[in-house]
Amino acid sequence: MTTEIVSQVEAALPASIATEKPTEHIALRADSPIEQDKPVDRDTTVEQAKSVQPKQLVEETEPGVKEKPKVRRVIDEEGGTTTATYPHYLPVWDHGERYPPWEPFNHTEHGKDADPSFKDLLVEGSKLQHLTPSTGSEVTGVQLSKLSNAGKDQLALLVAQRKVVAFRDQDLADLPIQQALDFGAYFGRHHIHPTSGAPEGYPEIHLVYRNGGNGEFESFLANRNSSVAWHSDVTYEEQPPGTTFLIILDTPEVGGDTAFVNHVEAYNRLSPALKERLHGLTALHSGFEQAEFSRSRGGVVRREPVKHSHPLVRTHPATGEKALFVNGGFTRSIDGLKKEESEYLLKFLVDHIGRGIDYQARVRWAPKTVVVWDNRVTSHSAIVDWVTGERRHLARITPQAERPYETPYVAEAK
Ligand code: SIN
Repeated sequence: MTTEIVSQVEAALPASIATEKPTEHIALRADSPIEQDKPVDRDTTVEQAKSVQPKQLVEETEPGVKEKPKVRRVIDEEGGTTTATYPHYLPVWDHGERYPPWEPFNHTEHGKDADPSFKDLLVEGSKLQHLTPSTGSEVTGVQLSKLSNAGKDQLALLVAQRKVVAFRDQDLADLPIQQALDFGAYFGRHHIHPTSGAPEGYPEIHLVYRNGGNGEFESFLANRNSSVAWHSDVTYEEQPPGTTFLIILDTPEVGGDTAFVNHVEAYNRLSPALKERLHGLTALHSGFEQAEFSRSRGGVVRREPVKHSHPLVRTHPATGEKALFVNGGFTRSIDGLKKEESEYLLKFLVDHIGRGIDYQARVRWAPKTVVVWDNRVTSHSAIVDWVTGERRHLARITPQAERPYETPYVAEAK
């Protein structure tokens, strides 16, 4: 089981680190202007603004050794020019960039008191269509970057209810990166991914990047039967992400969809006896394998890895819904159970979530689409299925949310 989960973690990662091979580059100076503090959104709550952590660049070289830390830039690897639609979003890995451990912060859940009529979000002329009855919607006629605070609150609530919502014809990718980040900061403190590439100077953006060429598809499937790797993002953090944004930059014309599964529905499908048994249990989520995988390939590790135990059943602060909170990417074991018990129960839960095609939704990307999901109550998988050599390039904004908590089991009415 452990081996299986580790390989699932690895499978979940290559979209962002597959091309991560160490190469020599001119070092980014620690005093580079791109490292200067960036303004915090006026909409950001005081607690969230205070919780922004200072950046810290440290040299990884031994004391006395003059060598500058490496910086790997995909644009250099493409010969200094590129056909990427958003070249300033191409990934950069700065080996000198290190951050201290996260401090806890007070998360404000904006979906909690949002107006459920959605009048400031689903404005006149907009259209909402469900992708499946329980999970996923698509919206046209709404410009996310122009939402008022009331609209943003309603966005958080709609996404919590539908689990994932695809917004078409968005301008977030066309705005300055800092403006896109300021928009995202309303929903929580920006997570900085420990290992993935980021646009130069914006480590808060997590990039997913495949240039599609060089037999990548074949090599990806050389040791796997399928590219499907269900995971929720960075659940090893003490405060994993909540409302999460994925912005398409380049997409294959056909293929490279993202699939989402609804963990509230996965919980609801369990028998009352099993639900009741799962309440009170916690499971360990680990970021160590991800860091080790990056290190073993000469990649970056920006922050030392952590492990945290979270409830197996968590309650969503806005909807009050209960959801299974385990995923094949990062959940390693169930606390207090013996090894075989933990492995069997975890395998059952992960398999149950993964095969729930009747509570999943699949989003087809199109230029200018932004997909928003609630990472607390879903897992997702990129689908690596195109063989055309087209580039797939996405930027994720990943606001962190509350520390997962559970509320007591409530017996169902007979
Ligand atoms: C992610 O895992 O956050 C990105 C999913 C994707 O590449 O579709």
